[in-house]
Amino acid sequence: MIDINTKVLGLMGYPLAHSLSPRLHNYYIKEHDLNYVYLPFEVKPENFSDAVVGLKAINFRGVNITIPYKEKIIDHLDSISEQAQHIGAVNTVVNEDGCLYGYNTDAPGFIRMLKEDGGFDIEGKKAVIIGAGGASKAVGFALCKNGIKEILLLNRTPARANELVELWQEIYSDVIISYGGLRDDSYREIFKKFHLIIDTTPVGMAPETDVKPVISPQYLHSDLLIVDLVYNPLETVLIREAKKLGARTLNGMSMLLYQGIESFSLWTGIKPEDTGLKNGLFDR
Ligand code: ATR
Repeated sequence: MIDINTKVLGLMGYPLAHSLSPRLHNYYIKEHDLNYVYLPFEVKPENFSDAVVGLKAINFRGVNITIPYKEKIIDHLDSISEQAQHIGAVNTVVNEDGCLYGYNTDAPGFIRMLKEDGGFDIEGKKAVIIGAGGASKAVGFALCKNGIKEILLLNRTPARANELVELWQEIYSDVIISYGGLRDDSYREIFKKFHLIIDTTPVGMAPETDVKPVISPQYLHSDLLIVDLVYNPLETVLIREAKKLGARTLNGMSMLLYQGIESFSLWTGIKPEDTGLKNGLFDR
């Protein structure tokens, strides 16, 4: 029941078309019988600054930040966590008595998915990351912090990958980090030495599901764990091709849940269980 004590949470992004976060958080609110509500706000770029000021003015408890504002929000916050600072992106804002604090829960969400759902031990392994946007920043940071030995960052625009690689090389001097474009026949040999591929691009996401995978299936092999951060559909074209080769795969659903659990805990102090949601979130 909404009343004058109801605390308001939300999601700010543009566009919001396929987000499942409102379903996820309102499910947890109900499950824990909390006096909160979580609402979606599609904020146009020209209104973004005003919207952030408004969070304080009408006393929101907190928001998730999504595409395209995860980097832009940083300048509007009073303080950000060290982790979010290193990543360079914020996906969760908490309002403490008029001060806005920024966090990144994508990184811990990604690591939990790799460990719990993938049974993957990161220490000493080699990973290919595809894409150089906000999601890639969180994944790269998380891997470097958790003992990865080598990262190869591939991007449609190699110059953007280069920028990110230079930043990572400065911070994580013990990790071997290089970059490249998406198409290169030498990858077929190079990938044989890698253990993990993470696609952080939106390629294959609904509604454009019937596309070519972001990298050629010819480069893949059956010993890889292949992760596609897209969760709609649960099986993208890349995941389908990887399964055909007998590789292990993960979609983005668990990461969505795990980052959501971390955000929810920052706002409410309660860490929900994810039971049953992995397969059922679309139906709620
Ligand atoms: P996010 O914050 O979700 O990571 P983003 O910052 O817009 O989103 O980054 C999206 C990434 O996906 C970028 O690396 C982008 O490549 P470019 O740097 O060349 O723009 C990549 N990407 C998006 N659409 C793509 C496509 N059709 N093919 C290959 N890469 C694509």
